[in-house]
Amino acid sequence: MIITGKYPNLRLRRNRNSDWSRRLVRENTLSVNDLILPIFLVDGKNKKQSIKAMPDIYRYSVNRLSEIVDKAVFNKIPMVALFPYTAKNLKNDSGSESLNEDNLVCKAIQFIKKKYKNSIGIMCDVALDPYTSHGHDGLLNKGKILNDETVKILIKQSLLQAQMGCDVISPSDMMDGRIGEIRKNLDKNNFKDVQILSYAVKYASSFYGPFRNAVGSKSLLKGDKKTYQMDYSNNLEAIREVALDIKEGADMVMVKPGMPYLDIVRTIKENFKIPVLAYQVSGEYSLIYNGIKKGIIDKNSIIEVLTGFKRAGANAVVTYFANKIAKDLK
Ligand code: PBG
Repeated sequence: MIITGKYPNLRLRRNRNSDWSRRLVRENTLSVNDLILPIFLVDGKNKKQSIKAMPDIYRYSVNRLSEIVDKAVFNKIPMVALFPYTAKNLKNDSGSESLNEDNLVCKAIQFIKKKYKNSIGIMCDVALDPYTSHGHDGLLNKGKILNDETVKILIKQSLLQAQMGCDVISPSDMMDGRIGEIRKNLDKNNFKDVQILSYAVKYASSFYGPFRNAVGSKSLLKGDKKTYQMDYSNNLEAIREVALDIKEGADMVMVKPGMPYLDIVRTIKENFKIPVLAYQVSGEYSLIYNGIKKGIIDKNSIIEVLTGFKRAGANAVVTYFANKIAKDLK
């Protein structure tokens, strides 16, 4: 620590005195390049459905996807993340709809790639929870999640997404060993340039509720996800998770949820020189959105929180606010 002087010679307020000076000494700046926009998908035609507990967020049918993707491209947001709402009659024990080459995610990837080419990246979740009748991310047998059997399906799900044109494969399932197996299978099938963003540090959290409504898994979910998602009391375990995923071939890693886990973002950034992303999850979005709507906090809170992610060391943030704040960042 270098302090060159003391009060009254030294007055830290001097640098803060005017707007131009504050801009001059600013250490972290949020830009649209730091944002990833999640998009929810729904089957059918001409649909734009609202979602319980996620104000001002919608599910789009593929033929209306342009409405939101146009905005993202216009705003120069680098990437969208796709999440399907799967109809109940397509869900089963094994989540087999995840491997259907005509499923919603496949259609959406093809649509976006065809229309927008490489002007925006596409990232897809790899996990079974939108497709299983029990709402878990993996296969369930007598109340237990089967790790290795699940990984076998995730490998296929990833390959399918890559074949459709997905740029960034994002396993969010938290099974052990899946990054290495997915990388091996992608390479074997000549998808050497498809990136892997591992949700390496994903905590079992109460902040995912609105998302589970959005993908239709909330009412189905039996029990909790604590045998695969991390215990929120742990810090060192996050380092082990990231170290393993890097060894297995992850190109980027994610910390999730966001705001309560900024210390983890910082820890990962300091321990590994790899791009670290953070996910400001659905519960965080809805809390802030409702707080603003009720006049409890003001609108600037959105950028304040997102700048906090940057300050903590995140390279980018997945946020439902992406399109809504892009104009303010220009
Ligand atoms: C599931 C998945 C979840 C989220 C992204 N992928 C929820 C969960 O693990 O139950 C949460 C995102 C959010 O809350 O915004 N694989």
